[in-house]
Amino acid sequence: MIKDNIESIKEKALKQIEEAGALDVLNEVRVNFLGKKGELTAVLKGMKDVAESERPTVGAWVNETRDVIEKAMEEARSRMEESVLNERLKYETIDVTLPAKKKKIGHRHPNTIALEELERIFTGMGYEVVEGPEVERDYYNFEALNIPDGHPAKDEQDTFYINGDILLRTQTSGTQVHEMEKGRLPIKMISPGRVFRSDEVDATHSPSFHQVEGLVIDKNISFADLKGTLVEFAKQLFGEDTKVKFRPHHFPFTEPSAEMDVSCFKCKGKGCRFCKGEGWIEILGCGMVHPHVLEMSRIDPKEYTGFAFGIGLERIALLKYEIDDMRLLYENDIRFLDQF
Ligand code: DAH
Repeated sequence: MIKDNIESIKEKALKQIEEAGALDVLNEVRVNFLGKKGELTAVLKGMKDVAESERPTVGAWVNETRDVIEKAMEEARSRMEESVLNERLKYETIDVTLPAKKKKIGHRHPNTIALEELERIFTGMGYEVVEGPEVERDYYNFEALNIPDGHPAKDEQDTFYINGDILLRTQTSGTQVHEMEKGRLPIKMISPGRVFRSDEVDATHSPSFHQVEGLVIDKNISFADLKGTLVEFAKQLFGEDTKVKFRPHHFPFTEPSAEMDVSCFKCKGKGCRFCKGEGWIEILGCGMVHPHVLEMSRIDPKEYTGFAFGIGLERIALLKYEIDDMRLLYENDIRFLDQF
C-alpha cells in the first residue's frame, strides 16, 4: 500500500519535472513534493501510523525516492540553464573590434588645487593647518574680533543667522579666537574653510566662498615678520620676480592693518586687461593682532604679539587659472572642470 503510494508520488513528480518548461516551474515542483508541506514529506510525517517493524523499510523507500526526484530535478535544471544560455548566445554577439569604454577619472577642483598649493607653502614654513566650525557663535565671528554689536563691519558682513546668537560664519577669523583660547603658545597656523555672506551671485561674489586664515603669535613678532612671511608666500605662489605692495587698511581685529597687492604676473606690472590696467592685484588682508583681541582671549599683549592674514581662496584660484567668472567654480560643469 505505502509502497504503491510512494511509487505513484515518484512517477507524478518525474512527470511534472519532465514537463516543467522553466526554472520557476521546477521550483514549484520541488515545493509540492519535497517542501515542508510536500507530498513526499507527508509520507514521512505519517510514519507514526506505520508499524514499528516496517518503519526502517518505509524510511529507506522515501529517501531513495527523494534522491531520484532530486537528481531528476538537478538534470532538468542544468538542461534549462544550458538552453537559456544557448538562446542568449544566439543574439548576443561580442564585437571585439569595438573600442573599450573609457573609465572616467575625476579631477581636483581648481579651489582644491589652489588650497593644496597654499597649504604646501605654509606648512613648508612650519605652519599647522587647523579647522574651525562653519556654524559659529556670534562671539567668535564678531565680538571676540573686536566687532561688537552695532559695529558697521557687522552690517557689511551680513550673513545667515540660525538664531540671535548662532550664525554661518562670515570669515575664518573666528578660528584665531578658538586657537588662542586653547592657551597653547606660540601659535603658527593657517585655517582654510568655507564662509557665508548674504551676497547676490555675480562674477565676483557668491553667498558661500572660502578663505584661508593665518595667525602667528609669539614673543617679539613684528610687522617685519608679517612682511617677510607674506612676501615669501607671494613669491612661491606667483613666481620669484613677484613684487609686493602693502596699502594701509582697516580691520577691527588688527592694528595696524593692511591689504597686500602683488604685481600682475601677466603683464609684470605694466598694466593689462587682467589687472584692469593697474599693474597690481589685491590678494589678501593682514595686520598685527589688536591688543584688545589678544586680551579677550587671555593672552597678555605686553608679553606676546602676533600677525594675522586672510586670503580669499577663490580669488587665488581665479588668478592662477585666469578664470574671469567665479560662478564657473560652482556650476560643476564637467567641460570647465576637465581643464584643470
Ligand atoms: N576676515 C577678513 C575678511 O573677511 C580677512 C582678514 C583680513 C583676515 C585681515 C585677517 C586679517 O586675519 O588680519 O575680510
